[in-house]
Amino acid sequence: MFNFTSLPPLSLYIHVPWCVRKCPYCDFNSHKSPDTLPENDYIDALIRDLEQEVPYVWGRTVQSIFIGGGTPSLFSAEAYDRLFSAIRALLPLSPHAEITLEANPGTFEQHRFADYLALGINRLSIGIQSFNDQSLETLGRIHDKDQAIKAVETAHKVGFENFNLDLMFGLPHQTAKTAQNDINTAIALEPRHISYYQLTIEPNTLYHQQPPTLPDEDPILDWQLESQRCLADAGYQQYEVSAYAKENSQCQHNLNYWQFGDYLGIGAGAHGKITDAAKQSITRRSKQKQPQAFMDTAGSPEVILQNEEIKIRDIGFEFMLNALRLSDGFPTPLFYQHAGVPISHIDKALQQAQQQGLLERDIHLIKPTEKGQRYLNSLIELFLP
Ligand SMILES: C[S@@+](CC[C@H](N)C(=O)[O-])C[C@H]1O[C@@H](n2cnc3c(N)ncnc32)[C@H](O)[C@@H]1O
Ligand code: SF4
Repeated sequence: MFNFTSLPPLSLYIHVPWCVRKCPYCDFNSHKSPDTLPENDYIDALIRDLEQEVPYVWGRTVQSIFIGGGTPSLFSAEAYDRLFSAIRALLPLSPHAEITLEANPGTFEQHRFADYLALGINRLSIGIQSFNDQSLETLGRIHDKDQAIKAVETAHKVGFENFNLDLMFGLPHQTAKTAQNDINTAIALEPRHISYYQLTIEPNTLYHQQPPTLPDEDPILDWQLESQRCLADAGYQQYEVSAYAKENSQCQHNLNYWQFGDYLGIGAGAHGKITDAAKQSITRRSKQKQPQAFMDTAGSPEVILQNEEIKIRDIGFEFMLNALRLSDGFPTPLFYQHAGVPISHIDKALQQAQQQGLLERDIHLIKPTEKGQRYLNSLIELFLP
């Protein structure tokens, strides 16, 4: 039996499922946009979806919002204005809420950016991927290096103080020199946050069917280490497997996921996780993935694709799968607070992990060692039920 004496912080995720075109490496729930985007119909559907979710979180304050995709910057500021009015009418929103919107440089428009900021969107996450034109072209990106730089300059110019740049490494055509140039260019543009992902070939992508030629793993690892050194020298502290931030600039929304907080997920294919103190349960819920199916069913029970309570035997693994991604680990009491069972529940696995040199712990803190970070999958597997 779970025993929640308080509830974790609550976030809101909003999914926008369209892109100008589908990138060959991408397995996110994103679809090539129709000629005319059904912007109004989709916003109506999001509002119906939220109305249906609200009873599960009565009285709780939303601490952060993340509008992800897909390419949310395809939608106008007017569309988000209408959505935010509905959100504010339905849920208390913290005055300090971090509100992030994912933007793709190919769809950047300066007037839209200024309007996003005016609406209260206070963080942008810009999908740059690389500053090398040859890599960008092979990745099927719709922007080149100059447009990527222009996008970031625009974000600065209109007054976004807080933004993230997404970069990938281990790319087709990448060399030590271009990898180094990508990281140096990103740092010179002074984002407060950089997400640095190794390109992975995911099932159900074009790259899986027709794999590109990628650099060897050994040099990729060297470039990653060198990039990490440059990021650290420039004042970006790594706080998660792929996330680097200047002081006080960690992504609050993602931190809430990694600390096993709660989140509502609205939109096509969105996932949510909600703790219920009255029922002493945690439920995961996901929505219809196809944009049209989502719009047709939003606001009705049919929109819900999956609705499952987390079993107590899985809770240790589910918590650790998230929390061990954090370089500094987590405060020991957080486990009881957010997983609803005492830390003794995972004592055996903790001891094994310690014996294998993968984890350090005391009554205040549990964190992966350097070896644990390097062999994260082996560490997390120890917590499988
Ligand atoms: C939801 S996606 C896209 C945001 C935005 N639509 C864009 O592409 O610019 C968030 C990020 O995940 C990363 N990503 C997507 N597919 C990936 C893959 N196969 N391997 C590694 N990183 C990936 C990219 O850096 C991307 O910017
Ligand atoms: S633009 Fe972003 S979300 Fe869309 S297909 Fe490309 S990587 Fe995926």
